[in-house]
Amino acid sequence: DDLKSIKDVYKKDFLIGNAIAAEDMEGVRLDLLKKHFNVMTAGNAMKPDALQPSKGNFTFEDADKLVDKVLAEGFKMHGHTLVWHQQSPAWLNTKVDASGNAIPLSREEALTNLRTHIKTVVEHYGNKVISWDVVNEGMNDNPTNPADWKASLRQSPWYQAIGPDYIEEAFLAAREVLDAHPDWDVKLYYNDYNDDNQSKSKAIYYMVKELNEKYAKTHPGKLLIDGVGMQAHYSLSTNPTNVELSLERFISLGVEVSITELDVQAGSDFKLTDEIAEAQGYLYAQLFDIYKKHAANISRVTIWGLDDGTSWRSSTNPLPFDKNLQAKLAFFGLIDPAKYM
Ligand code: G3I
Repeated sequence: DDLKSIKDVYKKDFLIGNAIAAEDMEGVRLDLLKKHFNVMTAGNAMKPDALQPSKGNFTFEDADKLVDKVLAEGFKMHGHTLVWHQQSPAWLNTKVDASGNAIPLSREEALTNLRTHIKTVVEHYGNKVISWDVVNEGMNDNPTNPADWKASLRQSPWYQAIGPDYIEEAFLAAREVLDAHPDWDVKLYYNDYNDDNQSKSKAIYYMVKELNEKYAKTHPGKLLIDGVGMQAHYSLSTNPTNVELSLERFISLGVEVSITELDVQAGSDFKLTDEIAEAQGYLYAQLFDIYKKHAANISRVTIWGLDDGTSWRSSTNPLPFDKNLQAKLAFFGLIDPAKYM
Protein backbone atom coordinates (compact mmCIF):
# COMPACT_ATOMS: atom_id res chain seq x y z
CA ASP A 1 0.00 0.00 0.00
CA ASP A 2 1.11 3.59 -0.51
CA LEU A 3 0.31 4.92 2.95
CA LYS A 4 3.03 6.73 4.81
CA SER A 5 4.30 4.92 7.90
CA ILE A 6 3.26 6.55 11.20
CA LYS A 7 6.49 5.59 12.92
CA ASP A 8 8.59 6.96 10.07
CA VAL A 9 6.69 10.25 9.97
CA TYR A 10 7.28 10.71 13.72
CA LYS A 11 10.75 9.17 13.82
CA LYS A 12 12.43 12.30 15.18
CA ASP A 13 9.59 13.05 17.60
CA PHE A 14 8.58 10.03 19.67
CA LEU A 15 8.04 6.29 19.60
CA ILE A 16 4.73 5.18 18.10
CA GLY A 17 3.02 2.35 19.93
CA ASN A 18 0.10 -0.02 19.78
CA ALA A 19 -1.68 -2.35 22.23
CA ILE A 20 -1.68 -6.02 21.34
CA ALA A 21 -2.73 -9.54 22.18
CA ALA A 22 -0.94 -12.71 21.02
CA GLU A 23 -3.18 -13.01 17.92
CA ASP A 24 -2.00 -9.63 16.63
CA MET A 25 1.56 -10.90 16.25
CA GLU A 26 1.00 -12.81 13.02
CA GLY A 27 -0.07 -12.46 9.37
CA VAL A 28 -1.49 -9.21 8.01
CA ARG A 29 -1.95 -7.79 11.51
CA LEU A 30 1.75 -8.18 12.26
CA ASP A 31 2.60 -6.68 8.85
CA LEU A 32 0.51 -3.60 9.60
CA LEU A 33 1.99 -3.30 13.10
CA LYS A 34 5.50 -3.53 11.66
CA LYS A 35 4.83 -0.86 9.08
CA HIS A 36 3.44 1.76 11.46
CA PHE A 37 4.59 1.08 15.03
CA ASN A 38 7.84 0.53 16.92
CA VAL A 39 6.74 -0.17 20.51
CA MET A 40 4.10 -2.51 21.91
CA THR A 41 2.00 -2.65 25.07
CA ALA A 42 0.23 -5.88 26.03
CA GLY A 43 -3.48 -5.03 26.23
CA ASN A 44 -4.05 -7.62 28.95
CA ALA A 45 -1.21 -10.15 29.12
CA MET A 46 0.95 -8.43 31.75
CA LYS A 47 -1.74 -7.35 34.19
CA PRO A 48 -1.70 -8.71 37.76
CA ASP A 49 -4.43 -11.33 37.17
CA ALA A 50 -2.47 -12.70 34.23
CA LEU A 51 0.88 -12.83 36.01
CA GLN A 52 -0.02 -13.92 39.57
CA PRO A 53 -3.54 -15.40 39.69
CA SER A 54 -2.95 -16.92 43.11
CA LYS A 55 -0.43 -16.10 45.79
CA GLY A 56 3.11 -17.00 44.79
CA ASN A 57 1.91 -18.65 41.56
CA PHE A 58 3.60 -16.54 38.90
CA THR A 59 2.33 -17.54 35.46
CA PHE A 60 4.73 -15.84 33.10
CA GLU A 61 4.51 -18.30 30.18
CA ASP A 62 1.99 -16.53 27.90
CA ALA A 63 3.34 -13.06 28.58
CA ASP A 64 6.90 -14.28 28.05
CA LYS A 65 5.98 -15.75 24.68
CA LEU A 66 4.36 -12.47 23.68
CA VAL A 67 7.23 -10.29 24.90
CA ASP A 68 9.87 -12.48 23.25
CA LYS A 69 7.96 -12.42 19.96
CA VAL A 70 7.54 -8.63 20.16
CA LEU A 71 11.27 -8.18 20.72
CA ALA A 72 12.21 -10.73 18.05
CA GLU A 73 10.12 -8.74 15.53
CA GLY A 74 12.18 -5.66 16.35
CA PHE A 75 9.70 -3.73 18.48
CA LYS A 76 10.35 -2.26 21.90
CA MET A 77 8.03 -3.27 24.76
CA HIS A 78 6.28 -1.22 27.44
CA GLY A 79 5.07 -2.97 30.62
CA HIS A 80 1.40 -2.56 31.63
CA THR A 81 0.59 -2.68 34.55
CA LEU A 82 1.89 -3.53 38.04
CA VAL A 83 -0.75 -2.03 40.35
CA TRP A 84 -4.39 -1.53 39.39
CA HIS A 85 -7.86 -1.98 40.85
CA GLN A 86 -9.06 -3.98 37.83
CA GLN A 87 -7.80 -7.28 36.43
CA SER A 88 -6.16 -7.73 39.79
CA PRO A 89 -6.84 -10.87 41.83
CA ALA A 90 -8.76 -10.28 45.08
CA TRP A 91 -6.20 -12.14 47.22
CA LEU A 92 -3.59 -9.40 46.63
CA ASN A 93 -5.31 -6.95 48.94
CA THR A 94 -8.49 -8.48 50.39
CA LYS A 95 -9.55 -11.51 52.43
CA VAL A 96 -12.89 -13.10 53.22
CA ASP A 97 -14.14 -12.65 56.79
CA ALA A 98 -16.14 -15.12 58.90
CA SER A 99 -19.44 -13.99 57.36
CA GLY A 100 -18.10 -14.38 53.84
CA ASN A 101 -17.56 -10.69 53.12
CA ALA A 102 -14.47 -9.37 51.36
CA ILE A 103 -12.50 -7.11 53.70
CA PRO A 104 -9.14 -5.39 53.25
CA LEU A 105 -6.00 -7.29 54.23
CA SER A 106 -3.94 -5.78 57.04
CA ARG A 107 -1.57 -3.04 55.90
CA GLU A 108 1.45 -5.30 56.45
CA GLU A 109 0.01 -8.25 54.50
CA ALA A 110 -1.07 -6.02 51.62
CA LEU A 111 2.31 -4.25 51.53
CA THR A 112 4.07 -7.61 51.38
CA ASN A 113 1.89 -8.71 48.45
CA LEU A 114 2.34 -5.37 46.68
CA ARG A 115 6.11 -5.49 47.01
CA THR A 116 6.43 -9.16 46.09
CA HIS A 117 4.33 -8.75 42.95
CA ILE A 118 6.16 -5.65 41.78
CA LYS A 119 9.66 -6.89 42.56
CA THR A 120 9.13 -10.32 40.99
CA VAL A 121 7.63 -8.93 37.79
CA VAL A 122 10.07 -6.04 37.34
CA GLU A 123 13.01 -8.39 37.99
CA HIS A 124 11.58 -11.02 35.60
CA TYR A 125 11.19 -8.68 32.61
CA GLY A 126 14.28 -6.66 33.41
CA ASN A 127 15.65 -4.72 30.50
CA LYS A 128 13.20 -6.29 28.04
CA VAL A 129 10.82 -3.40 28.70
CA ILE A 130 11.59 0.28 28.27
CA SER A 131 9.12 1.32 30.95
CA TRP A 132 6.42 0.17 33.37
CA ASP A 133 3.06 1.58 34.33
CA VAL A 134 3.73 1.10 38.04
CA VAL A 135 0.42 2.46 39.27
CA ASN A 136 -2.59 2.69 36.96
CA GLU A 137 -5.67 4.88 37.55
CA GLY A 138 -5.05 5.81 41.18
CA MET A 139 -6.86 9.14 41.09
CA ASN A 140 -10.56 9.96 41.35
CA ASP A 141 -12.31 11.67 38.46
CA ASN A 142 -12.73 15.41 38.76
CA PRO A 143 -11.54 15.78 42.39
CA THR A 144 -12.93 18.81 44.23
CA ASN A 145 -9.65 19.89 45.83
CA PRO A 146 -6.77 18.68 43.67
CA ALA A 147 -4.11 20.26 45.89
CA ASP A 148 -5.12 17.71 48.50
CA TRP A 149 -4.09 14.83 46.25
CA LYS A 150 -4.30 12.23 49.00
CA ALA A 151 -7.97 13.05 49.49
CA SER A 152 -8.36 12.86 45.71
CA LEU A 153 -7.19 9.24 45.47
CA ARG A 154 -9.53 6.50 44.35
CA GLN A 155 -10.64 4.39 47.33
CA SER A 156 -9.36 1.25 45.64
CA PRO A 157 -8.73 -2.03 47.48
CA TRP A 158 -5.02 -1.12 47.61
CA TYR A 159 -5.89 2.24 49.15
CA GLN A 160 -8.22 0.62 51.66
CA ALA A 161 -5.68 -1.94 52.80
CA ILE A 162 -2.55 0.22 52.82
CA GLY A 163 -3.59 3.89 52.77
CA PRO A 164 -2.56 6.73 50.46
CA ASP A 165 1.13 5.80 50.60
CA TYR A 166 0.52 2.62 48.60
CA ILE A 167 1.50 4.63 45.53
CA GLU A 168 4.83 5.73 46.97
CA GLU A 169 5.46 2.19 48.25
CA ALA A 170 4.79 0.75 44.80
CA PHE A 171 7.29 3.06 43.12
CA LEU A 172 9.87 2.43 45.87
CA ALA A 173 9.59 -1.33 45.36
CA ALA A 174 10.08 -1.01 41.59
CA ARG A 175 12.89 1.51 42.09
CA GLU A 176 14.69 -0.87 44.44
CA VAL A 177 14.87 -3.52 41.71
CA LEU A 178 16.13 -1.03 39.13
CA ASP A 179 18.75 0.33 41.53
CA ALA A 180 20.20 -3.18 41.79
CA HIS A 181 20.60 -3.25 37.98
CA PRO A 182 22.26 0.01 36.94
CA ASP A 183 22.79 -1.36 33.42
CA TRP A 184 19.01 -1.56 32.78
CA ASP A 185 17.20 1.39 31.24
CA VAL A 186 13.62 1.12 32.47
CA LYS A 187 11.40 4.11 33.23
CA LEU A 188 8.71 4.09 35.93
CA TYR A 189 5.36 5.66 35.05
CA TYR A 190 2.20 6.79 36.78
CA ASN A 191 -0.64 6.25 34.25
CA ASP A 192 -4.23 7.56 34.30
CA TYR A 193 -7.27 8.45 32.16
CA ASN A 194 -9.48 11.57 31.95
CA ASP A 195 -6.10 13.24 31.76
CA ASP A 196 -7.73 16.18 29.98
CA ASN A 197 -9.79 16.95 33.10
CA GLN A 198 -7.99 19.90 34.66
CA SER A 199 -8.85 19.06 38.23
CA LYS A 200 -7.73 15.44 37.84
CA SER A 201 -4.51 16.41 36.07
CA LYS A 202 -3.76 18.89 38.85
CA ALA A 203 -4.23 16.21 41.52
CA ILE A 204 -1.81 13.94 39.61
CA TYR A 205 0.59 16.85 39.25
CA TYR A 206 0.59 17.54 43.02
CA MET A 207 1.08 13.86 43.80
CA VAL A 208 4.05 13.36 41.45
CA LYS A 209 5.59 16.66 42.58
CA GLU A 210 5.39 15.76 46.28
CA LEU A 211 6.60 12.16 45.88
CA ASN A 212 9.52 13.19 43.65
CA GLU A 213 10.52 16.09 45.93
CA LYS A 214 10.43 13.81 48.97
CA TYR A 215 12.55 11.18 47.20
CA ALA A 216 15.09 13.79 46.05
CA LYS A 217 15.79 14.72 49.69
CA THR A 218 17.39 11.33 50.27
CA HIS A 219 18.43 10.74 46.63
CA PRO A 220 19.63 14.10 45.32
CA GLY A 221 19.13 14.57 41.61
CA LYS A 222 17.11 11.33 41.29
CA LEU A 223 13.45 10.78 40.37
CA LEU A 224 11.13 8.28 42.03
CA ILE A 225 8.55 8.64 39.26
CA ASP A 226 10.16 9.05 35.82
CA GLY A 227 7.08 9.70 33.79
CA VAL A 228 3.38 10.44 33.60
CA GLY A 229 1.20 8.50 31.18
CA MET A 230 -1.82 10.24 29.69
CA GLN A 231 -4.11 7.41 28.60
CA ALA A 232 -6.00 9.68 26.20
CA HIS A 233 -9.26 7.74 25.88
CA TYR A 234 -11.01 10.66 24.25
CA SER A 235 -14.24 11.48 22.44
CA LEU A 236 -15.36 14.11 19.94
CA SER A 237 -16.23 16.44 22.81
CA THR A 238 -12.65 16.38 24.13
CA ASN A 239 -11.21 19.88 24.08
CA PRO A 240 -7.62 19.85 22.71
CA THR A 241 -6.84 22.97 24.74
CA ASN A 242 -7.42 20.96 27.91
CA VAL A 243 -5.22 18.16 26.57
CA GLU A 244 -2.41 20.63 25.96
CA LEU A 245 -2.81 22.27 29.39
CA SER A 246 -2.53 18.88 31.10
CA LEU A 247 0.44 17.92 28.94
CA GLU A 248 2.24 21.16 29.79
CA ARG A 249 1.43 20.70 33.48
CA PHE A 250 2.98 17.23 33.52
CA ILE A 251 6.01 18.37 31.51
CA SER A 252 6.57 21.14 34.07
CA LEU A 253 7.22 18.41 36.67
CA GLY A 254 10.51 17.64 34.93
CA VAL A 255 9.38 14.10 34.07
CA GLU A 256 8.84 12.54 30.67
CA VAL A 257 5.31 12.22 29.36
CA SER A 258 3.84 9.49 27.18
CA ILE A 259 0.46 9.22 25.52
CA THR A 260 -0.30 5.64 26.49
CA GLU A 261 -3.74 4.47 25.28
CA LEU A 262 -4.99 6.90 22.63
CA ASP A 263 -8.38 6.41 21.01
CA VAL A 264 -11.26 8.74 20.09
CA GLN A 265 -14.85 7.52 20.30
CA ALA A 266 -16.86 8.64 17.28
CA GLY A 267 -20.35 7.54 16.27
CA SER A 268 -22.18 4.61 17.82
CA ASP A 269 -23.52 1.15 17.00
CA PHE A 270 -20.49 0.52 14.77
CA LYS A 271 -21.66 3.38 12.50
CA LEU A 272 -19.54 6.27 11.37
CA THR A 273 -21.08 8.89 9.05
CA ASP A 274 -18.84 10.91 6.73
CA GLU A 275 -19.36 13.96 8.88
CA ILE A 276 -18.37 12.21 12.10
CA ALA A 277 -15.42 10.51 10.41
CA GLU A 278 -14.20 13.94 9.38
CA ALA A 279 -14.61 15.34 12.88
CA GLN A 280 -12.64 12.38 14.22
CA GLY A 281 -9.89 13.01 11.67
CA TYR A 282 -9.78 16.63 12.72
CA LEU A 283 -9.40 15.76 16.41
CA TYR A 284 -6.60 13.26 15.66
CA ALA A 285 -4.91 16.03 13.64
CA GLN A 286 -5.29 18.54 16.48
CA LEU A 287 -3.88 16.03 18.98
CA PHE A 288 -0.83 15.13 16.90
CA ASP A 289 -0.25 18.80 16.20
CA ILE A 290 -0.01 19.31 19.97
CA TYR A 291 2.15 16.20 20.48
CA LYS A 292 4.56 17.36 17.75
CA LYS A 293 4.84 20.77 19.32
CA HIS A 294 5.88 19.16 22.64
CA ALA A 295 7.84 16.30 21.10
CA ALA A 296 11.00 17.16 23.05
CA ASN A 297 9.20 16.04 26.23
CA ILE A 298 7.10 13.18 24.85
CA SER A 299 8.69 9.73 24.71
CA ARG A 300 5.95 7.64 23.18
CA VAL A 301 2.49 7.94 21.66
CA THR A 302 0.61 4.64 21.84
CA ILE A 303 -2.71 3.99 20.09
CA TRP A 304 -4.93 1.57 22.02
CA GLY A 305 -5.49 -1.19 19.47
CA LEU A 306 -4.90 -1.83 15.79
CA ASP A 307 -8.40 -1.54 14.33
CA ASP A 308 -11.98 -0.62 15.16
CA GLY A 309 -13.06 -4.26 15.00
CA THR A 310 -10.91 -5.36 17.92
CA SER A 311 -10.96 -2.17 20.00
CA TRP A 312 -12.23 -2.37 23.60
CA ARG A 313 -14.86 0.14 22.49
CA SER A 314 -15.43 -1.23 19.06
CA SER A 315 -18.98 0.10 18.59
CA THR A 316 -17.66 3.67 18.66
CA ASN A 317 -15.10 3.30 15.87
CA PRO A 318 -12.26 4.85 17.87
CA LEU A 319 -9.10 3.99 15.91
CA PRO A 320 -7.20 5.13 12.78
CA PHE A 321 -7.85 1.81 10.97
CA ASP A 322 -11.32 0.36 10.38
CA LYS A 323 -12.28 -3.26 10.98
CA ASN A 324 -10.94 -4.19 7.52
CA LEU A 325 -7.60 -2.60 8.44
CA GLN A 326 -8.24 0.28 6.02
CA ALA A 327 -6.96 3.75 6.92
CA LYS A 328 -9.69 6.18 8.01
CA LEU A 329 -9.67 9.97 8.06
CA ALA A 330 -8.36 9.55 11.61
CA PHE A 331 -5.21 8.07 10.05
CA PHE A 332 -4.86 10.92 7.54
CA GLY A 333 -5.42 13.44 10.32
CA LEU A 334 -2.63 12.10 12.48
CA ILE A 335 -0.18 11.43 9.64
CA ASP A 336 -0.23 15.05 8.44
CA PRO A 337 -1.94 17.37 10.93
CA ALA A 338 -1.03 20.59 9.13
CA LYS A 339 -2.53 19.40 5.86
CA TYR A 340 -5.64 18.11 7.55
CA MET A 341 -6.31 21.19 9.67
O1 G3I B 1 -9.70 -13.59 28.34
C1 G3I B 1 -11.12 -13.67 28.20
C2 G3I B 1 -11.49 -14.74 27.23
O2 G3I B 1 -11.05 -15.98 27.71
C3 G3I B 1 -13.01 -14.73 27.02
O3 G3I B 1 -13.36 -15.62 26.02
C4 G3I B 1 -13.48 -13.33 26.63
C5 G3I B 1 -14.99 -13.25 26.48
O4 G3I B 1 -15.48 -11.99 26.85
O5 G3I B 1 -13.08 -12.42 27.61
C6 G3I B 1 -11.67 -12.36 27.72
O6 G3I B 1 -11.26 -11.38 28.63
C7 G3I B 1 -11.50 -10.03 28.25
C8 G3I B 1 -10.16 -9.36 27.98
O7 G3I B 1 -10.34 -7.99 27.78
C9 G3I B 1 -9.42 -9.93 26.76
O8 G3I B 1 -10.18 -9.73 25.60
C10 G3I B 1 -12.23 -9.37 29.37
O9 G3I B 1 -13.54 -9.91 29.47
C11 G3I B 1 -12.30 -7.88 29.15
O10 G3I B 1 -12.83 -7.27 30.31
C12 G3I B 1 -10.93 -7.32 28.88
O11 G3I B 1 -11.04 -5.93 28.61
C13 G3I B 1 -9.85 -5.21 28.75
C14 G3I B 1 -10.05 -4.09 29.74
O12 G3I B 1 -8.88 -3.33 29.83
C15 G3I B 1 -10.42 -4.69 31.10
O13 G3I B 1 -10.16 -3.87 32.14
C16 G3I B 1 -9.48 -4.65 27.39
O14 G3I B 1 -9.14 -5.70 26.50
C17 G3I B 1 -8.28 -3.69 27.54
O15 G3I B 1 -8.06 -3.04 26.31
C18 G3I B 1 -8.59 -2.67 28.60
O16 G3I B 1 -7.51 -1.80 28.73
C19 G3I B 1 -7.62 -0.78 29.72
C20 G3I B 1 -6.23 -0.51 30.23
O17 G3I B 1 -5.66 -1.70 30.73
C21 G3I B 1 -6.23 0.56 31.31
N1 G3I B 1 -6.90 1.76 30.86
C22 G3I B 1 -8.22 1.56 30.29
C23 G3I B 1 -8.18 0.54 29.17
C24 G3I B 1 -9.53 0.39 28.52
O18 G3I B 1 -10.48 -0.15 29.40
